[in-house]
Amino acid sequence: MKNDSTHKPHDRLAAYLVDDLAAVADIIRDRMASKHAPRIPEVTAHLVDAGGKRLRPMLTLAAARMCGYDGPYHVHLAATVEFIHTATLLHDDVVDESAQRRGRPTANLLWDNKSSVLVGDYLFSRSFQLMTETGSLDVLRILSNASATIAEGEVLQLTAAQNLATDEGIYLQVVRGKTAALFSAATEVGGVIAGAPEAHVKALFDYGDALGVAFQIVDDLLDYQGHSTAIGKNVGDDFRERKLTLPVIKAVAKADAEERAFWTRTIERGRQEDGDLEQALALLQKHGALTQTQDDALAWAGKARAALDGLPDHEVRDMLSDLADYVVSRIN
Ligand code: IPE
Ligand code: IPE
Ligand code: MG
Ligand code: MG
Repeated sequence: MKNDSTHKPHDRLAAYLVDDLAAVADIIRDRMASKHAPRIPEVTAHLVDAGGKRLRPMLTLAAARMCGYDGPYHVHLAATVEFIHTATLLHDDVVDESAQRRGRPTANLLWDNKSSVLVGDYLFSRSFQLMTETGSLDVLRILSNASATIAEGEVLQLTAAQNLATDEGIYLQVVRGKTAALFSAATEVGGVIAGAPEAHVKALFDYGDALGVAFQIVDDLLDYQGHSTAIGKNVGDDFRERKLTLPVIKAVAKADAEERAFWTRTIERGRQEDGDLEQALALLQKHGALTQTQDDALAWAGKARAALDGLPDHEVRDMLSDLADYVVSRIN
């Protein structure tokens, strides 16, 4: 891309891990195949070929490298993590009835919900086959726990999302589940496969957890103030889906009676009219909810950076530290 792209920590990390990432791409390509059901590689390739930032596999590779690993299995683990991510995206877009992902029409739109659900299940199963090849029970425990936690987070969101009583504590529980669990598992297994000492594995987990929370908070902010071309998804989806995300939770907490009636009608009852998204945005602005959400994301990125103090000096550690800044800089 442009010559400033290497200044982005995300790209510096990708450049550092270029061979590992190529090996991950090969495994993904190889394992998304199916002997009997051509729909599987069709749907998967639609999503895989659209790119995606490959953040989570990079975290696994980076963690393993930083801990001095020189075996082959960090590549399997990185591919496992991206497979789990891809499966959850397929399912998530069905649940959210989303129309755009990675700048393309979603699989549920191009094919149908059935294909997305079933191909997602296939990819989940493939991810489990892949991780068993490492022969590490610890890795199996961590990644299977993460998968259960992601599903739990998505289901919790299902019941919490349209309820105005949902507070920041519940929001954090949802985010820790649906997003941070995979980030922290991604960094943790990198350390575990490298045989890193417990304190380092703990630091890696804490980094991934805080980074994941920061990442999802930013994602929720971008849903109100991003541009769909930049984020590859439609702006305003969360409002239309009546999802109570952090900016709205903050605005609801400060709402007067009239504003509360607005949120009740649009989010709880789902009776939305033209101009409601604009009105929602105006209320978020009025109460400083977007700025406060941004501050929260910055604070979580700070926690992620601080967790890295528990790890030895390493060039990858510096890249991970910059990555925490980059994740929140997506806002601007
Ligand atoms: C999307 O994750 C799902 C969320 C947790 C918000 P990413 O933004 O990492 O998705 P890709 O892989 O880059 O498309
Ligand atoms: C992201 O969920 C988390 C998972 C995919 C499990 P969201 O619904 O918040 O993310 P986007 O906005 O669709 O990427
Ligand atoms: Mg979604
Ligand atoms: Mg969702």
